[in-house]
Amino acid sequence: MPNRIKITGLLISIVIILISSSCTGGKNDTIRLSSLDLSGTRQGWGTVMLDKSVTGKDLSIAGKKYEYGVGTHSNSRIRLELHKNTFRFQAEVGVDDQALDHPGSIVFIVKADGKILWQSPVMKPGSPAVPVDLKISGVKDLELLANDAGDGIDYDHADWALATFTGNVSKINGWKPMVETAEILTPKPGPMPRINGTKRFGVRPESPFLFKIPATGTRPLKYEVVNLPAGLTVDAETGEIAGKLDLPGEYPTTVKVSNNLGTAERPFVIVCGNTLGLTPQMGWNSWYVWENNVSDSIMRAAADALVTTGMIDHGYMYVNIDDCWSVKPTSDNPELNGPGRDRKGDLLTNKRFPDMKGMVDYIHSKGLKAGTYTSPGPTTCAGFVSAYGYEEQDVRKFVEWGFDFLKYDWCSYGNIAKDQSIAELQKPYLLISGILQRQPRDIILNLCQYGMGQVWKWGQAVGGNSWRTAGDLGGSFEGIGTALFRDGFDVYSSDSLHLYGKPGGWNDPDYLLFGFLSNWKGQTVPTPLTPNEQYTQMSLWSLVAAPLIFSGDMTRIDEFTLNVLTNDEIIEVDQDPLGKPGYRINKNGDLEVWKRTLEDGSIAVGLFNRGEEPATVTAYWQDLGITGKQHVRDLWRQKDLGGYNIQYAEKVGRHGVVMVKITPEL
Ligand code: GLA
Repeated sequence: MPNRIKITGLLISIVIILISSSCTGGKNDTIRLSSLDLSGTRQGWGTVMLDKSVTGKDLSIAGKKYEYGVGTHSNSRIRLELHKNTFRFQAEVGVDDQALDHPGSIVFIVKADGKILWQSPVMKPGSPAVPVDLKISGVKDLELLANDAGDGIDYDHADWALATFTGNVSKINGWKPMVETAEILTPKPGPMPRINGTKRFGVRPESPFLFKIPATGTRPLKYEVVNLPAGLTVDAETGEIAGKLDLPGEYPTTVKVSNNLGTAERPFVIVCGNTLGLTPQMGWNSWYVWENNVSDSIMRAAADALVTTGMIDHGYMYVNIDDCWSVKPTSDNPELNGPGRDRKGDLLTNKRFPDMKGMVDYIHSKGLKAGTYTSPGPTTCAGFVSAYGYEEQDVRKFVEWGFDFLKYDWCSYGNIAKDQSIAELQKPYLLISGILQRQPRDIILNLCQYGMGQVWKWGQAVGGNSWRTAGDLGGSFEGIGTALFRDGFDVYSSDSLHLYGKPGGWNDPDYLLFGFLSNWKGQTVPTPLTPNEQYTQMSLWSLVAAPLIFSGDMTRIDEFTLNVLTNDEIIEVDQDPLGKPGYRINKNGDLEVWKRTLEDGSIAVGLFNRGEEPATVTAYWQDLGITGKQHVRDLWRQKDLGGYNIQYAEKVGRHGVVMVKITPEL
């Protein structure tokens, strides 16, 4: 072939390549944001929607409909890797009309290579869309953020309408988050005996005493309690202490647990007086997994599983039914409806609880305690019969059935209370605690009224052994991660809740939401919390001395979930007998350091990273109020890290934690 023909052929192919490249993502193409892979998007509620609002409706801002765009929800981050020749980003942003008449408010932000390039004013439902038109040549990392504008994330339905890139768009990639593995950090309990759970237990004079010593180690174990006061005995085979004390006082004892490998011993103080709940309660509650499907057999299976999983050996002791065990007169389900009370006015159970006393006896026979639930109003939150007007009679029934714990949930009492004054907020709780005081049985009282009237300031004075500090942590399944940081970290810190929790009364930021939970759509599904977030919840709850009440499916607990729930060194922080709740000592953007002072003079420290990327978090001795060489132990790994001066720093994953115990070196 002559050379000229060869050269012409080459030129033709180059032209074809150039033409075809400009058709498939050359210099001046446009591409819609909604046609990219946005699966790595993070948001505070729901999932990212392409060409729809976050609720799956047509995109619409201030009455104007949009054919395409992206619907999301604060706080959200859409992150993209761009080609340097992608030179323009355009969109119209605003709050979707689905949020009209609601209090949403959002700030839209575009960040280029980590710096803010553009920011919208505060956008509210009904505000006309704001156009965005940005030059972005050379930018590699683009983030589209829709952030809560300060009033919480409710109804923050954020639309990036008509969002389009222009330029070389062939290489735009949706960012992919690092996959977080569910790493089991804690070694399994060893074969040697180890005594766990609370070191101080409160009982009232004359009340029946029931406490099973929690201990791990190869079975069979032998239990002994030295200096057990008269009136109490311990079963050497089961470790159950039972009996009655007549006289108030502090009774220091030593618990010994042995097997053929050795003996563990630990002080255990029985405090006979008027104060129950000397350390935060530990146990299980039915609500977040079983909601209105709870039944006798579910409760018995949960009690069985507390034993077979070994959770009982780590201190979990209460097995609590939540709402939906009484009758729901308005229900058309024959299992639930019927008369709510008998002719004498005694409260009746629904048909899913044919033998409440038998069920409670069964729970007790496992060495566990049983809890129940009602409301001071005429109906519970789910519309079941509750205590209003029958408080004394209902409590007597609970005593007859043998319950040890009562959650008293405000619910329909909102229609009874005259106003929101502190006196009205306190009234039903004063009434019920007065009745409980007169019973021949110890019943822990959990106040559930979502933090109204700064309940932490008076919860213990009205007889509460714990009080919910905020709304339902898992009220929105998709929003659990957001609620964890909002109610756990921010409500607690901004109201200085650490000042109010103490032996006998604890701040309760709600249940541990691990394992399988209800998604409120009729299914039980794995928790939306990532592994790091689960470590974060358990660490924070222990640092702030919160009740450790797990509310996932007891019968489907995997190894990872069990490892998060049963690390004895973390639980020891929660149950520390000094009973001084921890608090945030340092916040640097997304990085936070929390501290809790422990009885033995050491401090537990949580290094938290609320950010989206791994980051190094540093605890400075100066902030912790300590000096000199300190011994640092990693509590999740149960591993000594050695001696440190001045500070301890470690890299912490997205939404994760490193929890250490710091002890002065001699
Ligand atoms: C309220 C409480 C929850 C749960 C439900 C039951 O929402 O806060 O913890 O008890 O009621 O209906």
